[in-house]
Amino acid sequence: MKGIILAGGSGTRLSPSTDSINKHLLAVYDKPMIYYPMSVLMLGGIKDIMIISTPEDIGRFEDLFGDGSELGLNLVYKAQKEPRGIPEAFIMAEDFIGDDDVTLILADNIFYGQGFTTLLRNAMKKHRHATVFGYRVKDPERFGVVEFDANQRVVSLEEKPENPKSDFAVTGLYMYDSDAPRLAKKLKPSARGELEITDLNKEYLKRGKLDVELLGRGFAWMDTGTNESLFEASEFVKITQQRQGFKLACLEEIAFYMGYMSREALYEKGKAMAKNDYGAYLLDIANREHTQQYWDGLDHNPMLEVVE
Ligand code: TTP
Repeated sequence: MKGIILAGGSGTRLSPSTDSINKHLLAVYDKPMIYYPMSVLMLGGIKDIMIISTPEDIGRFEDLFGDGSELGLNLVYKAQKEPRGIPEAFIMAEDFIGDDDVTLILADNIFYGQGFTTLLRNAMKKHRHATVFGYRVKDPERFGVVEFDANQRVVSLEEKPENPKSDFAVTGLYMYDSDAPRLAKKLKPSARGELEITDLNKEYLKRGKLDVELLGRGFAWMDTGTNESLFEASEFVKITQQRQGFKLACLEEIAFYMGYMSREALYEKGKAMAKNDYGAYLLDIANREHTQQYWDGLDHNPMLEVVE
């Protein structure tokens, strides 16, 4: 499975904050927004990841993550000249995807909840051709809405419908087979001049190949595209971290638990940043007694277990 993080766009709803910097580099509480979608792909066990952003910003992401080897990842970068829509990512990434399946995540989406790793990994195992992730919302008319049957096969998909057929919004996380680039090339731009992800999903739906995974009420899904939602997401992260003592989307911690980063490397990274709270947290993780099990034997690493 390959991964794509889509971090381009224009971010007009966050202007002037985004006038000179990409939206996905803004902080959601204590770390850049892109850490959150990166953590999702990492938890899914995906190591080959393409980051797509604007020609002006792509270098900043490269500055942030480099080739990804520190986190045990293989990262590649590609510039999207204009925000011509989400499915364009598959056209740009055609060679990168090759014959593999691909998971795409929008870089302004945050997913969090107990059992998310398991859900993601099971979804990957079940994945046939195209899988979207549905989340119950109180205002479905603002979203792409998915209607499905008892087998979680999709029955209909509608973009911002006046009379939604379900309460389930389609989130910014998608899995496709290697046909996605070919199907994306067949799409025509919508009235707003963009290729639409809903249209790509409808191509799969027409062929009976679209499934949905549901994120239950124990999950939080947020998009951070407006000032209000960005602030709320920061509050959520702050409160959750404060209560639990665990950080959300701490990439080094995930890399450590996955066996990609050694305890020494984690410790060194923490030491270099020890004056701030993030570095202190890395040191804490590196020193915690109960992390010894991850360190000692990856056979017992719960992050790598898939529960049926
Ligand atoms: P949007 O929220 O639709 O657009 P935007 O981020 O440009 O923001 P605004 O509406 O405020 O102008 O985009 C959803 C996500 O997809 C976001 O993370 C940016 C990304 N994106 C791209 O990378 N390329 C694209 O062509 C489009 C349309 C979006």
